[in-house]
Amino acid sequence: MEKRNLTNIRLSGDENSVIILDQRLLPNKIEYIELSEAADMYAAIKELKVRGAPALGIFAGFALYVLSKKAPPPKLKEYADYLVSARPTAVNLEWAVSRMMKADDLKKECYAIRDEDAAMCAAIAERGLGLLKDGDGVLTHCNAGPLATSRYGTGLGALILGAEKGMNFNVFVGETRPLLQGARITALELMNAGLDVTLICDGMASAVMRDKKIDAVFVGADRVAANGDVANKIGTSGLAVLAKHYKIPFYVFCPSSTVDLSRKSGGDIVIEERDGSEICELYFKERMAPEGVKCFNPAFDITDGNLITAIVTEEGFFKKVRANEKRGNHV
Ligand code: MRU
Repeated sequence: MEKRNLTNIRLSGDENSVIILDQRLLPNKIEYIELSEAADMYAAIKELKVRGAPALGIFAGFALYVLSKKAPPPKLKEYADYLVSARPTAVNLEWAVSRMMKADDLKKECYAIRDEDAAMCAAIAERGLGLLKDGDGVLTHCNAGPLATSRYGTGLGALILGAEKGMNFNVFVGETRPLLQGARITALELMNAGLDVTLICDGMASAVMRDKKIDAVFVGADRVAANGDVANKIGTSGLAVLAKHYKIPFYVFCPSSTVDLSRKSGGDIVIEERDGSEICELYFKERMAPEGVKCFNPAFDITDGNLITAIVTEEGFFKKVRANEKRGNHV
């Protein structure tokens, strides 16, 4: 497959707009859009044209810098609250906005948010790679790669770094219903890195784990509570339950900016609910459910901290809750 270097978020040359890769169109179309108005920036977040917890923070930083050029401070505060209201679960969005609102030099701060994320992801990737050996089978869910961050990614960082060093892994990617971030984005990024990728429907994870094809599960996070509970893409908690059953280590990778000590536990994290049309219609050729059926479409779920082998940030490994893993050579 043709390798492409995709930049998800950047400023335009005159710094009057933010240019993003429209992730809703992947993998079929590589299309960049230019955003200079707050309403379009809000819509880009809401509609997941830009997505992934750290990337939302980076985008918010660039967006507020652009908006600050034409908005006086009270209006900028209004814009800041407006952007944060687009999606409630990933803490990085409000974290980056609060950094920007406290900064004296907004240009410097938005680049710092992006560059710090790149450094954190590189460190996370190194730590994650230490958990793997060449040829391991890894299951991942949603997308925690470069397009969800700045570079390398979190959950995918170790895999991509390993590929750069000439290693290979058998990566099983859950398609991630209903918005298909696994199928559309993770498969693309991992194939781009030259890795062995197998796409599965979300409901196939148990069968793949039972067949002993999986040595570890690697996922990202949208918000980590003080007790180690983790909010991540819907479907993550089910994988953690399965991993415990099959004695497979379950790792969560995120930068420290995703840890929110103000939330005591997962119960304090707001889970975004999205429109049911994403389940019934989007990405299908025609509607695939009876008209009028009730839908429940939470975008994220909470994985209990006691199901997680370790949370890996740039600072180290946290919460060794599960011990005596049978497979592999893990912490
Ligand atoms: O709804 P999305 O696509 O923004 O959800 C993304 C995820 O759940 C990722 O796993 C998470 O943000 C970690 S990204 C490094």
